[in-house]
Amino acid sequence: MRTIEWDDKKDVVKLIDQTLLPGDYKIVECTHLDELIEAIKKLKVRGAPALGVAGAFGVVLAFMNEQDEATLKDEVEKLKKARPTAVNLSYGVNRTLQAAMCGKSMQERCSYALDEAKRIAEEDVAVNRKIGEYGSALLEDGDVVLTHCNAGRLACVDWGTALGVIRTAIEKGKQIEVIACETRPLNQGSRLTAWELLQDEIPVTLITDSMGAAVMREGKANKVLVGADRVVKEGVLNKIGTYMHAVVAKAHGIPFYVAAPLSSFDTERSYKAVEIEERGPEELLFFGEKQIAPLNVKVYNPAFDFTPFELIEAIITEKGVIRDLKEDV
Ligand code: MRU
Repeated sequence: MRTIEWDDKKDVVKLIDQTLLPGDYKIVECTHLDELIEAIKKLKVRGAPALGVAGAFGVVLAFMNEQDEATLKDEVEKLKKARPTAVNLSYGVNRTLQAAMCGKSMQERCSYALDEAKRIAEEDVAVNRKIGEYGSALLEDGDVVLTHCNAGRLACVDWGTALGVIRTAIEKGKQIEVIACETRPLNQGSRLTAWELLQDEIPVTLITDSMGAAVMREGKANKVLVGADRVVKEGVLNKIGTYMHAVVAKAHGIPFYVAAPLSSFDTERSYKAVEIEERGPEELLFFGEKQIAPLNVKVYNPAFDFTPFELIEAIITEKGVIRDLKEDV
């Protein structure tokens, strides 16, 4: 199944519970908006484009449970704030809300919202295919591509942005290998990227985040390709650790690429005006159930970082590759 989809028979949002992967593959069904918000906060569904679609289906759930307008507004605000950094969440919410409001009755609004949310989900797949087409031209036969976090089909509805580029290049007959950084503290790289690439029999080697520099110096990776949570005026916000790889890639003359749909662009805004999600200390104090740090140590746990354009070779979008990156991208 797709990462997230609407079930017409049950009128529920279905999603793959990504917190259980790779050990268990389970589908969660959300009937009420509260359940979906909880799933977003817990990262059962995550990744910028998938969050956009979750936001869209969340609006449908809000309308379906037919509340008065004030409650609905509150609920939708809660939904938008569930995770603040990826712009796609509010993009999906706003677009669906706008479509819904063209309806006159609650029933009509609900049906317009559902149509729009489904459209956003379908567009995501088509957009990723286009990103794959443009991006695959940048990859050569024999490339070893280092990636961080998960910008694959699990971060989208299907196919993926950064991993979609790799999938398309392989589809075109190029041999590409991937180096997946584990992406502490929630391990989206080891749990999700490694898992989904192995499902497709794409060669992948797992490393810890701190091995990236040595791997690049040793010539074991010749390109870096990541996704984005938000493209802003001066650069890109993506999973914590992305900036470190970009600095190292620059130091070693290795091209650093970002693959992102235009729905992740928010180029009127400075990175300084974007809230970087800070997550709880337990993510660093425990590994699963096991305590791995003194419980009274001070913890800093931002989920995303900022990479300036000067470290980025190009951004791959569904409309083409942007190379001349400066403030007015
Ligand atoms: O915290 P997450 O797992 O939602 O973070 C996801 C990322 O940082 C991805 O790299 C980004 O959303 C791009 S996904 C195509």
